[in-house]
Amino acid sequence: EKGTYPHFMLKEIDEQPIVMRKIIKEYQNENNELKLDEEIRAAMKAADRIYIIAAGTSYHAGLVGKEFIEKLAKIPVEVHVASEFSYNMPLLSEKPLFIFISQSGETADSRAVLVKIKEMGHPALTITNVPGSTLSREADYTLHLYAGPEIAVASTKAYTAQIAVLAILAVDTARAKGLELDFDPMQELAIVANAMDVLTAQKEEIEQLARDYLSTTRNAFFIGRSADFNVSLEGSLKLKEISYIQAEGFAGGELKHGTIALIEKGTPVIALATQENVNYSIRGNVQEVVARGANALIVSMKGLEQDDDAFVLPKVHELLTPLASVVPLQLLAYYAALHRGCDVDKPRNLAKSVTVE
Ligand code: F6R
Repeated sequence: EKGTYPHFMLKEIDEQPIVMRKIIKEYQNENNELKLDEEIRAAMKAADRIYIIAAGTSYHAGLVGKEFIEKLAKIPVEVHVASEFSYNMPLLSEKPLFIFISQSGETADSRAVLVKIKEMGHPALTITNVPGSTLSREADYTLHLYAGPEIAVASTKAYTAQIAVLAILAVDTARAKGLELDFDPMQELAIVANAMDVLTAQKEEIEQLARDYLSTTRNAFFIGRSADFNVSLEGSLKLKEISYIQAEGFAGGELKHGTIALIEKGTPVIALATQENVNYSIRGNVQEVVARGANALIVSMKGLEQDDDAFVLPKVHELLTPLASVVPLQLLAYYAALHRGCDVDKPRNLAKSVTVE
């Protein structure tokens, strides 16, 4: 049921504003209060440290969620790749709460961790798009993503749904702890949904950028600092999995410690600049790579833009910029793959849900 869409991935990218609005609706009661299970609230409040466990794109959403929970709810958070955590468990805090993030709810690497921590007697919350899934059934609590079925192998709307639900969870916890916040998640997510409408209508511009920067290259870099770094990891994963371009997400300031050696004439560097506090320094990093011949494509945000920026995002709340900046990166990956003749919805060597460890 792709309808008029050539690929599920494009349809699912376009569905993101709808999913944001669905999440706003589902997580609010008739008095416009956040609607979350009391038990989840209590479990979050009781935790002295949160361990987020996930794989791939869901891991990248976890990195964004860490920022929400630490900044808003003031609980320390560790984010772990599931397959690593299983075999190399860190020292746990006294009252850990585990949050499993999984679109499918069937990822074997994450399940292995869930089984282990349940044996140890720790509580678990699963955030998933499939409420009846294994990770949902075997955890104590579930939060639903309401993203609708995601068919394309490359995850898009599940990533933004995960981030939105994590923002709501963080705010709910902060309020339950009596912390003062000047951040209304539903209002800000509604602004994000509108921004996504604008972004998904800019396909022609992004297709042209994909043509100009990515149609023949063998490699590409994504750079950013702070929240933008987290999104650069997701942007590079999207690009490599469907276009087979070797891509790497990098912290802007870390480039000079080695990786900048790879920059040569024409290397595409996609730089995210949506964070006010690092706007100056990321632009310095862009100059460093441009001086070595890189082909820089700067994605910035209204209010922070400069003349050379290739793409300017509509303004959204600083904490929620990943929800906006990831959209052009998803579309860049899509069009790069399309131009290179790749099978967008079913990339080689990949399965939609990875049920082996
Ligand atoms: C990337 C992608 C994978 C999944 C990962 C985890 O586009 O889809 O990286 O994110 O396999 O899958 P879930 O979220 O189902 O646990």
